[in-house]
Amino acid sequence: MSDRPKVFVSRVIPEDGLRPIREATDARIWEDDLPPPRAALLDAIAGCDGVVTLLTDKVDDAFLDAAGPQLKVVSNYAVGFDNVDVPACTARRVAVGNTPGVLTETTADLAFALLMAAARRLPEGDRYVRAGKWKTWGPMLLLGPDVHGATIGIVGFGRIGQAVARRAMGFGMTILYQDVHRADPAVEAEFGATSLTLEELLPRADFVTLHVNLTPQTKGLIDAEKLSWMKPSAVLVNTSRGPVIDHAALAAALTSGRIFAAALDVTDPEPIPPDDPLVGLENCLIVPHIASASRATRGKMAEMAAANVIAGVRGERIPTPVNPEVYEQS
Ligand code: DGY
Repeated sequence: MSDRPKVFVSRVIPEDGLRPIREATDARIWEDDLPPPRAALLDAIAGCDGVVTLLTDKVDDAFLDAAGPQLKVVSNYAVGFDNVDVPACTARRVAVGNTPGVLTETTADLAFALLMAAARRLPEGDRYVRAGKWKTWGPMLLLGPDVHGATIGIVGFGRIGQAVARRAMGFGMTILYQDVHRADPAVEAEFGATSLTLEELLPRADFVTLHVNLTPQTKGLIDAEKLSWMKPSAVLVNTSRGPVIDHAALAAALTSGRIFAAALDVTDPEPIPPDDPLVGLENCLIVPHIASASRATRGKMAEMAAANVIAGVRGERIPTPVNPEVYEQS
């Protein structure tokens, strides 16, 4: 039996992370494409000193019980950590790590790609061509709103929201934002961004893009009422977490033409079932939670997740803790 720390990695992540984890620990990697079923996960983590989790793994009391009291670190391979019960981890002195910063620009790229694709109806155009429907140049074919010069409403003006704003500036857009914390005056000045309430922002924005964490406060944030405040020509983009939007309300708003289009990287649930009403809508573009999916970014996320789990199992402070208070307990 090895006396090296025992680590479970719940899916194959890039070698940039797996290599150091294998070198430093007694590692077991879940090799399937699909996540470990709950029972298999709980079984695999028993006796582990550290676990690298994905956003598909629920880290709660049952998980912590199954791992055992020697567990020192849960290293989430994501910037978001709504799958982790952080207070439960802190109560058991388990450090929780995430991967902030490295995916900001890549996620903003995808948010902007979704915004443009939905506005200019790229998936519909592609389907149209492949279906053999393209017979002539059409003056009225697949019309949509302009992106350049439009007004963008950014809900959640943190790292990723601001990276989207930077892209919007290149398109000469007017930038409005809503956040629980007002940005620094210097940041507002950099983007020419105006802080508004949602009630003020939604009726004015041509594009609304969501960049909030999923919390009890943001669950269902964009509901039927908020959708009713938006312009009929508006495009809604979500690269945050699916449950931030009430899907039934969104399907109704898209079907009735209450808003023009939506583009979703995240859904509720994930994966979205093929018979979900949103999947059948021409004006709803959905991709499978790929905002951070560039090779380089996924590699950097893997490096960070590895650094967190390796430091954690060694009893060192992890580089990017989401519960730094775990180190303040006596
Ligand atoms: C995250 O990191 O939270 C993304 O949703 C996946 O990269």
